[in-house]
Amino acid sequence: MNERDTLKINAKSHLQIGGLDCTEIAEKYGTPVYVFDETHIRNMMRVYKNVIDKEYGGNGLVAYASKAFSCKAVYAIAHSENIGVDVVSGGELYTAISAGFPADKIIMHGNNKLLNELQSAVDRRIGLIVVDSFKEADILDKLCAERNISQNVLIRINPGIEAHTHAFVQTARTDSKFGFSISDGTAEKMTNHVLSKSNLVLKGYHCHIGSQIFEKQSFVLAVEKVMDFVAYIKSKTKFEADCINLGGGFGIWYNDEDPKLKLCDYTDYLESMINALKDKTQQLSLKNPYLIIEPGRSIIGEAGITLYTVGAIKEIEGIKKYVAVDGGMFDNPRYALYQSKYSVLLANRADEPCTEKVTIAGKCCESGDIIAVDVPLPKVKSGDILAVLSTGAYNYSMASNYNRNAVPPAILVNGTHVEYIIKPQTYEDIVRNDLIPDYLK
Ligand code: LLP
Repeated sequence: MNERDTLKINAKSHLQIGGLDCTEIAEKYGTPVYVFDETHIRNMMRVYKNVIDKEYGGNGLVAYASKAFSCKAVYAIAHSENIGVDVVSGGELYTAISAGFPADKIIMHGNNKLLNELQSAVDRRIGLIVVDSFKEADILDKLCAERNISQNVLIRINPGIEAHTHAFVQTARTDSKFGFSISDGTAEKMTNHVLSKSNLVLKGYHCHIGSQIFEKQSFVLAVEKVMDFVAYIKSKTKFEADCINLGGGFGIWYNDEDPKLKLCDYTDYLESMINALKDKTQQLSLKNPYLIIEPGRSIIGEAGITLYTVGAIKEIEGIKKYVAVDGGMFDNPRYALYQSKYSVLLANRADEPCTEKVTIAGKCCESGDIIAVDVPLPKVKSGDILAVLSTGAYNYSMASNYNRNAVPPAILVNGTHVEYIIKPQTYEDIVRNDLIPDYLK
């Protein structure tokens, strides 16, 4: 356990999150349910903000990458922590604005932003749009001209670094649907293209090298590559970027294969990036640009858990023991998509020794509907409350109504306080947009 641990085991041997007993939460709110610890979310937002304030004179912005978990309450928390957000669709933008989030602290991403998404972004006067295609720059310029306004933009570039959890590779040419490669000259071409647009104000560059990364050096290298590019562009065009956005990507703990980072480790990541940035600007005689980072997973991932109730248990002699829960890939598709690993606890018998390895299956009509494979647990019984840890990021946000299962509600806990932040979806909600053509009636 470290100071970031949101989980404890209480005197009843029950798991607690944010000071509340998970079995009581399960009883009151039902399962499956996503549970978020507000203190943990705020602490993570503060950690990054403090580093920018202390080590970089406040010349920057932490923008929570809301694709990790988007709902009105999380934007309200981000707003109250005085940070920004990144959105990647009209839906996320709409949610942020509906929560009263200030438009000037919103950054919009997307490799194929739709016309109505761009319209809504400019109409709301959001802070920055990260342009990701030549055509998008043309459309955006036209939209601004029609409105007689200008829009601050960044260009998404590929520095040629592919980071994978504990390792990274440098590639000459980046194969990605996102961004423009530095090495093949398209980043430079795009720079000239955007500079030629009278209604777009090019503020600088954005890059995001990957997600769930622990390798500090890959972040540092990204800073260096981006700043070398900034210097190169300055030498060719006289344009000097006054903002760089280095994306997100800091890793979190899912299971014992991952390090359990402390707050100071996250501080260290960002300090190293800032130090590299300062060194580079000095070396290249550039000004210190406004620095944006976009952490998503590291802010919200470990702050969330999912509670389930165990139902059917099926043992296939010599092969596997399946423990089925009342959720599944409709609330957490990450095993199905990426074979992601999770840690699982019995919330109602949290300190019992583990005696068996079981596979947690969901209730969907699909063999691949698995939450976790071969996880150690005490002997599981039907009716036990199972907690899957580190499900705060990319779980609710990637949930679906597969098999017309309802997406679970989310609750926020804080000390003694507990409240819905996303109400339970009902079957009525699920059929709301269904229509039967007259000739079928
Ligand atoms: N900024 C940009 C432009 C991004 O594309 C992303 C993540 C982030 C920030 C936030 O990265 P983070 O700090 O969360 O690593 N669905 C996958 C993760 C996809 C991440 C996509 N981009 C998963 O469940 O692992």
